[in-house]
Amino acid sequence: MSSSSQEVLSTSQEISDLTRRLTFGTWRFQKFWAPLHIADAEGCYFIDGNGKRYLDFSAQLMCVNLGHNNPAVIEAIAEQARKLCYVSPAYATEPRAELSRLLLDVLPEGIEKFFFVTSGTEANEAAIKIARLFTGKTKIVARYRSYHGSTMASIAATGDPRRWPVEPAGKGQGVVFAPEVNCYDCPIKHTYPGCGIACADYLEHIIENESDVAAVLVEPVVGTNGVLVPPPEYFPRLRSICDRHNVLLIADEVMSGWGRTGEWFAINHWNVKPDILVTAKGITSAYVPLGLCATTGRIASFFDEHFFAHGHTYEAHPITLAPAVATIHEMQRLKLVERARELGPYLGQKLAGLKNSHPSVGDVRGLGLFWAVELVKNRKTKQPLNTKAEKMAGKPTVVDQVAADMMKQGVAVSAWLSHFVIAPPLIIEKSDIDFAVSVMDQALSIADKYVEA
Ligand SMILES: Cc1ncc(COP(=O)(O)O)c(C=O)c1O
Repeated sequence: MSSSSQEVLSTSQEISDLTRRLTFGTWRFQKFWAPLHIADAEGCYFIDGNGKRYLDFSAQLMCVNLGHNNPAVIEAIAEQARKLCYVSPAYATEPRAELSRLLLDVLPEGIEKFFFVTSGTEANEAAIKIARLFTGKTKIVARYRSYHGSTMASIAATGDPRRWPVEPAGKGQGVVFAPEVNCYDCPIKHTYPGCGIACADYLEHIIENESDVAAVLVEPVVGTNGVLVPPPEYFPRLRSICDRHNVLLIADEVMSGWGRTGEWFAINHWNVKPDILVTAKGITSAYVPLGLCATTGRIASFFDEHFFAHGHTYEAHPITLAPAVATIHEMQRLKLVERARELGPYLGQKLAGLKNSHPSVGDVRGLGLFWAVELVKNRKTKQPLNTKAEKMAGKPTVVDQVAADMMKQGVAVSAWLSHFVIAPPLIIEKSDIDFAVSVMDQALSIADKYVEA
């Protein structure tokens, strides 16, 4: 053993220093990264190495839907580890069969066959590959305000600026971007409902003029890029556009799934059936890394007679599947989908109150327990407080300053570009919501200073 590995890690500072020195921090310049040491977590709170508690107002990366340290999920992991840690994906296992049977109950009707991976990224990679194999076509239409993952196909299909550093090599062939649906700040300068959903019509124009389009890949409610909730006509229109052009509709429900919006899956709000559904995060409440690419029976049966050219060593890994079974049971027992639906308006109303007292708050929008608070320099022009280019250049953003101040006051919230994504564990209580919103209320005075007079 080297002397360095024999050192006893006695302080939080040492743990943080070693983490910073020996490992990469994601999506950032490495200089100045000072990761906080987290030692424990329980319910809606996590606790740092010095014992300070933080309310987890974004459920880490919008994923710990059940809250931290749920005993039933922990026991499922332990029990599976004792029984069978690993066999190759060529074999059948009890958790694989059990989870698949349960998924048929909770996924949108018609989604019937499953490919299990270990992240949302990999689930999208599988979806893109399956769409191309099934249709024999190449192109994927995605939208600018989107995030679909970090590896080559999924980052190529990502509209947000995390794609920029890997271009042109990472651009991947055959991705075309359409305008997002954003009724607060429409990218094609229309106003709902007079627009007649022109953003969907423009997407059809893209399909018609590109040809060779295999699939349209969309987040039913855009997550990291601002909790964009489409108007009621959007998804039925998109479904009929896809049908008209024989193009698959892929719903990326990595963040919007698992009760987050008050439905098991967000696409259910519009009663639209996707051809492929991709998910991860809340599937195990993020306790273990699991992603899912799920297809209709029509797509599944194509591969009866065609080579399914995809796989991973960790596909259908038993230790990832058993906790997903427990997660679904816990969600049902605690009625968390219903809870998100019922508590959503309370959270929304509290957040909307911030707009009255803070000129920097341009918009508050959301669905269920999934909300964005968008900050602007000027409510009329809707100009954000920071640009994408500033973010990618590593400039400290105003939302990061607000989030840092909230952290000092014991509330953790996810910030991106010029908005916050609020997505607490679905077990959150009203008193916790009140506390978090009051902390945000105080911290927003930092942002108000940047508002144009
Ligand atoms: C909508 C969406 N798709 C895909 C991903 C990628 O998932 P992962 O980080 O598990 O690879 C994310 C992650 O935030 C996401 O929000």
